Order: sequence, then C-alpha cells, then structure tokens
Amino acid sequence: MIYRVKQFFQGLTAKLYEEDLHFINQYLTSQEQNLFFQLRKSEQRHSINVAYGCKIDAPNNLALIKAALLHDVGKIGSNLTLINKAFVVLSDKMNLKPSVMPSFLKEAMYYKINHAKLGYELLLKLGLQEKVLVLVKNHHKENIANVKEMEILQHYDNLY
Ligand SMILES: [Fe+2]
Repeated sequence: MIYRVKQFFQGLTAKLYEEDLHFINQYLTSQEQNLFFQLRKSEQRHSINVAYGCKIDAPNNLALIKAALLHDVGKIGSNLTLINKAFVVLSDKMNLKPSVMPSFLKEAMYYKINHAKLGYELLLKLGLQEKVLVLVKNHHKENIANVKEMEILQHYDNLY
C-alpha cells in the first residue's frame, strides 16, 4: 500500500527531462514516438524508468528497450488517471463485483485488464518486430516461457 501511495505522488509530479527526450529519440522512430507522447505524463515517466532499468540489465537488447518504452501504449485514450487507478486498486482489494461498479470504474478496469492486448494491436499496425510485440502483449502474464527478456521487463515494471 505504501508503494501505491508513493506511486500516486510520483505520478502527480512526473516530468520529462532533456536526457529523457534524447533517450526516446535514440530508441523510438517518429511513429512510435507519436504513440509514446499520447500517454499521460505519469505513464511516460514510468515507461522511461522501466526502459532505463532494462538498459542497465541488457544494454544491447534494442527490442527489450523499445518494448519497455512502449509496453503501456494500450492505455492511450483510457480513463486510467491517477485517481481512477487508486479506485481500481481499492475495488480489487475489496473484491468488488462489476455489477456494483459505477461505469467509470468498469471502464478503468477494462483498460487495466486489456491494455497489454490493446497496445499489442496498436503496435502490430506499425509493423514492429515480433519480439517487441510478444513482450508488450504478455507483459502482465506470468510464466511466459522462452522469452528471457520478459523477466527483466516485469521486474522493472513492478519496481516503478
Ligand atoms: Fe502494463
């Protein structure tokens, strides 16, 4: 819970710096950047932090770093604001049934559950490399065999 509170306040003050923009330029094409910058600022910050972590563990793995930057693009256009994310976490903890959820919460839940697949579909249209697609599509699944990069991506995704 303390982690969630910390994440909430980090999200409120999320910023991008010159070095972040340079990093994004290095790893994303202009089409990919166009998607990236449609994410909320807090999601952009999270994705950059995940990508920096992946780069430390696997500096030459371009597919992994690209996937880290793009893993949450399925949240574009969602209503997963910081406050709605807090509601999602609370209703998860309370085991709330969809039938009693207000519609904004149902929508937020939909994006929480489906954003990996939605992101995969967006990136598929851009013709990204298979490895990137697999990482994005499955980044919330457990026990994905034969994708060694997944462990690194999930580690940093859970950290930030
Ligand atoms: Fe995600």
